[in-house]
Amino acid sequence: MKLNDFKLEVFFGKHEFTAPYLLTQSDCESMTINELFKYEPGLKEPFLNMWLGYTEVSGNPELREAIADLYPTMTPENIIVHAGAQEPIFNFMNVMLNKGNHVITQFPVYQSLFEVANSIGCEVSKWNLKQTEKGWQMNIEELKELIKPNTRLIVLNSPNNPTGYAFRKEEIEAIAEIARNHNIYVFCDEVYKGIELDNIKRPWFADCYEKGISLGVMSKSYGLSGLRIGWVATKDADLIEKLIKMKHYTSICSSGPSEFLAAVALKHSDEILRRNLNIIKQNLKTADDFFQRHPQLFVFNKPMAGPVAFIKMNIKMPVDQFCNKLVEEKGVLLLPAEIYSYEGQYVRMGFGRKSFAKSLAKFEEYLIEKQYV
Ligand SMILES: Cc1ncc(COP(=O)(O)O)c(C=O)c1O
Repeated sequence: MKLNDFKLEVFFGKHEFTAPYLLTQSDCESMTINELFKYEPGLKEPFLNMWLGYTEVSGNPELREAIADLYPTMTPENIIVHAGAQEPIFNFMNVMLNKGNHVITQFPVYQSLFEVANSIGCEVSKWNLKQTEKGWQMNIEELKELIKPNTRLIVLNSPNNPTGYAFRKEEIEAIAEIARNHNIYVFCDEVYKGIELDNIKRPWFADCYEKGISLGVMSKSYGLSGLRIGWVATKDADLIEKLIKMKHYTSICSSGPSEFLAAVALKHSDEILRRNLNIIKQNLKTADDFFQRHPQLFVFNKPMAGPVAFIKMNIKMPVDQFCNKLVEEKGVLLLPAEIYSYEGQYVRMGFGRKSFAKSLAKFEEYLIEKQYV
C-alpha cells in the first residue's frame, strides 16, 4: 500500500503551530480539563486516581453508552471507539474495500476519505458539490448515474468540510434508498454534526440505513481534538467484528484518560455544543460584515452546518500562492483549494475559534495594504 502525501496535514504541519492568526481551523474552540470539569464538579479525584492500564478494544463501556445515547437507534454494541476520526477512516476502508472495487466519494472532501480507497487500488468516482446562486448543492440524480455494477461504497461527509453543505433528512433517506437498491454500503463522516446553523436537525446516517456507517469524533463540534477519541457507529455486526480485528493492528485500545474525559463531555453534549454554536454564530456576524464590505472580492455562502466555509476569491494570482504569501507576510493562515485537489480560486475559512475576529482584522489589513480592496 502506497499512500500519497496528505496535503492538508503537510500544510498544517508547516504552519499550524507557528502562524499567529489561524483563520482556517476546522475544530471548535477547545478548553482545559479544569473547564471541562466545571460541567460536572467532583471528578478531579476520580480522574487522578484512574488506573492507567489497557482499556477494552471496542472502548470503555461507559463511553460507548454515552456515544450510543447520541443516536436514537444505537446500542453500545453498535459502537467502536477509535483514535480520532483518522484511524477509523483508515481501518474501515481497509476492511471494507478490495482492489478493483468502485467507490463514489462526495467532492471536495477531506483527503483520507478517498485517498485510502485509492491506495487500495479502488476506482474512485467523484460526486461533485456545485456552487450555485442558492449556495452549495448536490444533485441526487448524479449519484444514481455514477453507480456501476462493482460499486461497493458511497462515501459522504455531512456537514461537509470544506463547503459547510449538510444533507437534509429527505436527501439522507433518498441516498439510503438508492444504496439499498444496489446493495452498496454508505460511510458517512459526520464529525461536524451537532452545530447546525440553519436550525435543521438531521438524522445520523447509521440510524437510517442498515448498511450505513456513521463516523463521529470529539475533535470538531466538541473542540476536544487533543483527546484523540472518535468512533464508528453501525448496525452491521459483521463489520463491527472486522473493525475490532483491524484495530488489533493499529491502536489496540484508546487512551484511558481520554475515554474518561470524552465520556464526561458527552454527558454534557448539549451544553458544549451550545457553547460552540454561540462562538460560531458570533463569528459569522463578524464575517458577514466583512464580506459585505468586500463584495467584489469574495463569493461567500454561509455554512448550513459546521464551522467551515469554502469561499471564492476574485483575484488574479493563483490562490495557493496568495495563501503562501499571506501566511509568510502577515501570519494569517487560510487553506487554498489546491489542498483539496480542487480546481478553483477557493479558500477555506473556519469560524469556530474565539480569536476569529482578531485574525479576520489582520486579514483585512493585509488586503488593504496590498490594495486588493
Ligand atoms: C471531515 C473530516 N474527517 C475526519 C477528520 C480527522 O479528524 P481527527 O483529527 O479527529 O482524526 C477531519 C479533520 O480535519 C475532517 O475534517
